[in-house]
Amino acid sequence: MEGLRVAGVTEVIVGKGMPSPLLPQRPDRRRVAILTQPAATSKALEIASALTSEGLLAEVIGLPDREEAKTLSVAESVYEAFAKFELSRSDTVIGVGGGTVTDLAGYVAGTWLRGVEVVHIPTTLLGAVDASIGGKTGVNLAGKNLVGVIWHPRLVVVDTRVMDELPSTLLSEGMAEAFKTGLVGDAELCSLIVSQGLHAPLDEVVRRAITVKAAIVTRDEREHGERVYLNYGHTIGHAIEYASALSHGESVSLGMIAASRVSERIHGFDGMDMVVSTIDRLGLPTSVEGVDVGRVLDLLRRDKKRDGDRLRMVLLREIEDPVLEHVEESDIEIGMSAVGL
Ligand SMILES: NC(=O)c1ccc[n+]([C@@H]2O[C@H](COP(=O)([O-])OP(=O)(O)OC[C@H]3O[C@@H](n4cnc5c(N)ncnc54)[C@H](O)[C@@H]3O)[C@@H](O)[C@H]2O)c1
Ligand SMILES: [Zn+2]
Repeated sequence: MEGLRVAGVTEVIVGKGMPSPLLPQRPDRRRVAILTQPAATSKALEIASALTSEGLLAEVIGLPDREEAKTLSVAESVYEAFAKFELSRSDTVIGVGGGTVTDLAGYVAGTWLRGVEVVHIPTTLLGAVDASIGGKTGVNLAGKNLVGVIWHPRLVVVDTRVMDELPSTLLSEGMAEAFKTGLVGDAELCSLIVSQGLHAPLDEVVRRAITVKAAIVTRDEREHGERVYLNYGHTIGHAIEYASALSHGESVSLGMIAASRVSERIHGFDGMDMVVSTIDRLGLPTSVEGVDVGRVLDLLRRDKKRDGDRLRMVLLREIEDPVLEHVEESDIEIGMSAVGL
């Protein structure tokens, strides 16, 4: 996929192994700070040693796992490590890990010395198909991703050998996001996942999902328009995520089923059965028990307040034909009943 550009800035490389040399030529680059998390440390060390043999000074900075990495206090300790390492304006930050690492790496790179080059090397499928592409960065405060900048990586490298070895929960979660991307923008990508589930060829899934996201982000970087379509399943999904102990991938899967039911009701979308059976095939839940429906509705109402007095949701008229629409609470309730809520 060499040559694909996102927002005119990011070059994306998908393949088995890592390119050599890894970084685009920059004669004034001396130092590279590599941010990583526990599960990706060996990959980060491998990258550090490759860069050292290219004559660069490389420093690996370990972050806490998962969302604990996305805080201002972690960002502060990373800035301090940058200062000690003397990371200059012509140097580079690399994020090696899942979406939490690339979100934090993008944030600190975008703000250190008012912005230094960042490169993402995602090690989760969700990171590869979603988080590392598009320039959104962020840390959490009272809410998720409340503080951030848009800071596009110069380069994203997806080593599909890493994806081949992912534990099944991470594979399912990433595949669900790729399926979402297929539903809104690539019928072929959908078919691959519908017909092969977790056995869908990862390099093609990653390439296709990135191509769709890249095109959308290039046309609508700041989400004034079509970028919002990539949130398919996420309105109800996020509310379920906050109201339950379910993971993001599980919650968004339920959210996609609910949104498909609302799409069926309002637009006659005829893919409901296909969505349910595919999510089931990916090993993700198609219904849920024990979640407080009142709390889910309450969270959705709060969402609504932020956006005028009616809730807006991404719906599908058909595959590849999304639309952002106002919906009534009664429609939401019908969507939620499709997942047992
Ligand atoms: N910026 C964006 O546009 C965007 C888009 C989607 C999601 N996100 C963010 O991404 C984050 C979720 O991404 P994620 O699920 O990758 O999160 P994550 O970084 O928490 O990774 C999930 C888990 O996988 C482990 N892991 C990483 N690589 C592994 C490997 N190769 N093998 C085994 N385990 C591995 C991690 O240590 C972690 O425990 C969220 O914070 C979300 O807000 C950002
Ligand atoms: Zn998501």
